[in-house]
Amino acid sequence: MFGALYRIKMDEEENEEKENLLETDTTTIRPPAKRNNQILRLLFIIGVSLNTLFGILGIFTFASFLNSGKSSYENGFDTDLEPAREKIDLIVKTFTGGVELDDAGNFYTDDGGHEYVGPPGPEVDEAWETLLGLNLDLDEDEVVLKGSTFQWPESGNYFTGIDVYHSLHCLNRLRQAIYPEYYTRIFNHPSDPSRKNHIETLDHCINHIRQAIQCHADLTPMEWRLDGNKIILKTNTQHTCRNFEQINGWALSKRTKFEDIHSWRNGSLQIVD
Ligand SMILES: *[C@@H]1O[C@H](CO)[C@@H](O)[C@H](O)[C@H]1NC(C)=O
Repeated sequence: MFGALYRIKMDEEENEEKENLLETDTTTIRPPAKRNNQILRLLFIIGVSLNTLFGILGIFTFASFLNSGKSSYENGFDTDLEPAREKIDLIVKTFTGGVELDDAGNFYTDDGGHEYVGPPGPEVDEAWETLLGLNLDLDEDEVVLKGSTFQWPESGNYFTGIDVYHSLHCLNRLRQAIYPEYYTRIFNHPSDPSRKNHIETLDHCINHIRQAIQCHADLTPMEWRLDGNKIILKTNTQHTCRNFEQINGWALSKRTKFEDIHSWRNGSLQIVD
């Protein structure tokens, strides 16, 4: 019994001792507790940082999502001339001018686009002229192009244009090159560096049109049909296009009025394209 009591006392003493030990322990263990605090603080900082990082990433993703909605074939890209972007409209067009085979087995092309081809003359030149807005003048209220393009000394207007016209101009040059004896006024211009050596100009034009075609990468499927033993490409398929007529209408209203530009008229400034 005593033994048991004693043992209890011993146990109490031991417990006290343990408590004491614990107390001393807690005092001596303080550095690890501090370490725990530091770890918590570190975790908190990491948490806040990650939240901030994902928050910022979220904002960027959302912004690019909004942007991707805005920046498209239909709405225009950042690289498109800004005032022209408002004029974009998509239109489904059936291409014309394809090769057909008649009942007698002769090839012919449909009538579409006939005004842009054939023997040279004032009519065909006129047809191409209506496609060539080429040079546009825009003022400071319409667009900010400061430093990126030339400004006329007389008006301060930006001398600009849209690349579809450069490509069309180049295609027209290639067409004219088929008839050099008719277009001597184009190709025999020693004073104009862009027309002095027409081979150089044409090489430049071939590469420009090549890149424009590749850039726009029309994904309309090619369709073939069998006629006798000939597998003929149907080119009169439907393509989704930017409405050129609408863009051209706007661009022609912004066409550079060269008649008002004295420094160009008197030959002190020359255009090289
Ligand atoms: C051409 O016109 C511009 C602008 O009026 C003038 O500054 C320049 O001196 C003229 N140059 C010649 C060769 O007449």
